[in-house]
Amino acid sequence: MRISVIGCGYLGAVHAACMAKLGHDVVGVDVDADKVALLSSGRAPFFEPGLPELLEETMATGRLRFTTDLAEVAGAQVHFVCVGTPQKQREYAADMRFVDAAVEGVLPHLAPGDVLVGKSTVPVGTAERIAERLAEVQPEASLVWNPEFLREGFAVQDTLHPDRLVYGIPEGPDGPHAQAVLDEVYATPLADGTPQVVTDFATAQLVKVAANSFLATKISFINAMAELCEATGADVTQLADAIGHDARIGRRFLNAGLGFGGGCLPKDIRAFMARAGELGADQALSFLREVDAINMRRRVRMVDLAREVCDGSIVGRKVAVLGAAFKPNSDDVRDSPALSVAAQMALQGASVVVTDPEAVANAERAWPSLTFAATPQEAAAGADVVVLATEWAEYRDLDPHAFGEVVAGKRIVDGRNVLDPGKWRSAGWVYRALGRP
Ligand code: UGA
Repeated sequence: MRISVIGCGYLGAVHAACMAKLGHDVVGVDVDADKVALLSSGRAPFFEPGLPELLEETMATGRLRFTTDLAEVAGAQVHFVCVGTPQKQREYAADMRFVDAAVEGVLPHLAPGDVLVGKSTVPVGTAERIAERLAEVQPEASLVWNPEFLREGFAVQDTLHPDRLVYGIPEGPDGPHAQAVLDEVYATPLADGTPQVVTDFATAQLVKVAANSFLATKISFINAMAELCEATGADVTQLADAIGHDARIGRRFLNAGLGFGGGCLPKDIRAFMARAGELGADQALSFLREVDAINMRRRVRMVDLAREVCDGSIVGRKVAVLGAAFKPNSDDVRDSPALSVAAQMALQGASVVVTDPEAVANAERAWPSLTFAATPQEAAAGADVVVLATEWAEYRDLDPHAFGEVVAGKRIVDGRNVLDPGKWRSAGWVYRALGRP
């Protein structure tokens, strides 16, 4: 198939490379000339395991190219809209400017029989609105809403081997054609047995935000239990293990700690609440306010814990923060709990040094006022307290004896509950964690 991918961020760049890997002929379009130049030279503009190798492999086949010129989508039969929908400033709602611009940009190039595919996370109702515009400009093309569920850090694997494929297809005769075209695009994962849900536009759009809301709720649930554990002296990691053995609950996404961040979960639950309000269904999602509040409280608690281990004050204390990315295996610092904690401590008078294996450059751009170091040892040199904020494998594997040599005070606050308290305490450290005694 000849495919265009509009928007080459975390979603689009991976999608374009994966579609080429599946054997399609792909053009990726982005307004950012630097990003296009990097991708065109076979390099990934962000850290994503497996993507550099995949770009190299697929660019060599000649089936993948990148451009800033939207007119080059002409000739493709399938057009994926993969642009971002960030949170609006001073509002919960999603900013739809990039989606609207991408759609308006691509519409004049669509030919009869083409399929426009929405992948961006959008407020329910967007697909219906785009379908109306499509009917005005190119009535012989059709729209499918095909939400994406990839996780950063596992994006290549998740795109090539998705958990499920969801299509929201139009009512009427267009529907079967659009579905057949998308089935051809995804022939390989479908042949592998990937479950497929074919539904209407509204359901497809809701599936995406419902999934992210459920994941956010699961994390905040266990973090609320962590608050109870702190009040009672219980251990939230054991509690999670125990309830996770019930297959109806499951252990995944029950890791208590600093909570969720990133470019998806926080803004998606807020945009969902905003949209529910517009639809007169705000009561249905009022629990998401609590999910958000529990999540944000963990960041405050983390700063409090650092203060507690420093005998009541972090003013003038040297703090090493391990981690800047919102999660390991990513260089994404959007709404990163780690940076939020680091910045709070700096604002409260601590002298903070942040380190991360991949995200320092992005973190420096987002928080130029913070100080950064390349390694945990450099960050922790002379530190009064170490805060583990993102659970990179190399931080989990730190040797408490050797690491104890570089710090001024052996105090560690484990914001992700990944260290062995016994091991650290027996090496002479004061160990504190969120939701553990
Ligand atoms: C999330 C969803 O998991 C994907 O399915 C979805 O496609 C994506 O958003 C999206 O909408 O594009 P992602 O943002 O990459 O993916 O990150 P997650 O792996 O979901 O982690 C989100 C946050 O939750 C991270 O800050 C992580 O540290 C935190 N988390 C995760 C916890 O605090 N505890 C857990 O048990 C799991």
